[in-house]
Amino acid sequence: MKNLLNGIEDVLLMGPGPSSVYPDVYSALSRSTLGYLDTYFIQIMDEIKALLQRLMKTRNELTLAVSGTGMAGMETCLVNLLEPGDAILILINGVFGTRMREIATRLGADVEVLEFEWGTPVKPETVETKLKERGYKLVAMVHAETSTGVRNPAQEIGQLLKATDSLYLLDAVTSLGGIEVEVDGWGVDALYSGSQKCLSCPPGLSPVSFSSKAQKAIANRKTKTPSFYLDIDLIGKYWGGEKRAYHHTAPMNMLYGLYQSLLLVMEEGMDKVFARHRKVHEVLVQGLEELGLQLLVEPPYRLPMLNAVRIPKGVEDAAGRSALRTRHKIEIGAGLGPLAGKIWRIGLMGHTAREENVQRLLSALPEVL
Ligand SMILES: Cc1ncc(COP(=O)(O)O)c(C=O)c1O
Repeated sequence: MKNLLNGIEDVLLMGPGPSSVYPDVYSALSRSTLGYLDTYFIQIMDEIKALLQRLMKTRNELTLAVSGTGMAGMETCLVNLLEPGDAILILINGVFGTRMREIATRLGADVEVLEFEWGTPVKPETVETKLKERGYKLVAMVHAETSTGVRNPAQEIGQLLKATDSLYLLDAVTSLGGIEVEVDGWGVDALYSGSQKCLSCPPGLSPVSFSSKAQKAIANRKTKTPSFYLDIDLIGKYWGGEKRAYHHTAPMNMLYGLYQSLLLVMEEGMDKVFARHRKVHEVLVQGLEELGLQLLVEPPYRLPMLNAVRIPKGVEDAAGRSALRTRHKIEIGAGLGPLAGKIWRIGLMGHTAREENVQRLLSALPEVL
């Protein structure tokens, strides 16, 4: 029988995620599947937890990887922390903030938003003024807005929230593993990420972490968490404690992959990994500017791992991306929402963030332009 898998090409993934997977992660994925309560597998889960705590800079006991992509992490945080009528303030400057609003609205929360122009960061002074108006159970923001390439002021917002009773929810899907993320230092109460960006695993896992303050809020819920699969209390009982309780069959091979990628980050050194992301971003920006291209975001707010570049006049968005994909085997991303057709998104995430990849793209671009 025909097997389409034989036709899969080796594509350099330079879009908004997934990123190119580390070869060692592919090897890890093919290790023998163990049982979900196998003691050796549980040791691996414990190590993943410890490695995530190191990467997230947290001592939070409830730190683990949810089965599912980044959206599962977002939904896990919101379904566990919100009850109908709870006040949430969402700081929106791109697609993923909008997603949080959609989920919080579906949960019947009392949703307020502060919107900032796409391509510009969240402004702490505007948030500070808003926080004086009333109290919120939860304030949520995306750290690295993948739809625009903006880095939001995660530490500054955390500082503002320290003076309030609000819980702080941070989306670190694109930031974790590529720039500093400090859960405890910044006062983050709930954080979620994804395996397929700067951790360079395939999509399928969402690392999360909950502070003890967030855990208390969950324990004090008046209603049951509306999702069984994403109930963090039940998931936590499978990931921790002396006696592990079955909740769902863990995707163990995916977890082997995540474990391997976390080991690779620690072996290289977290600071060195972040410096590598910064360095290749600088090389890319310089090369793009030499080609006459402009970036969407002002320099102080740029993310190293997601570079939004304006599509020059006369260049057709889809045709350009398709030429890169077919002739050069490079994938870059399209713009989303109001930026569709206006920008390309060039990802430098995890294993993709290497100078030879940047040079390959810069050599291919003139032909496409
Ligand atoms: C900032 C951000 N949050 C959430 C998500 C959702 O993650 P996923 O597509 O893995 O479900 C993404 C995906 O691109 C993202 O970039």
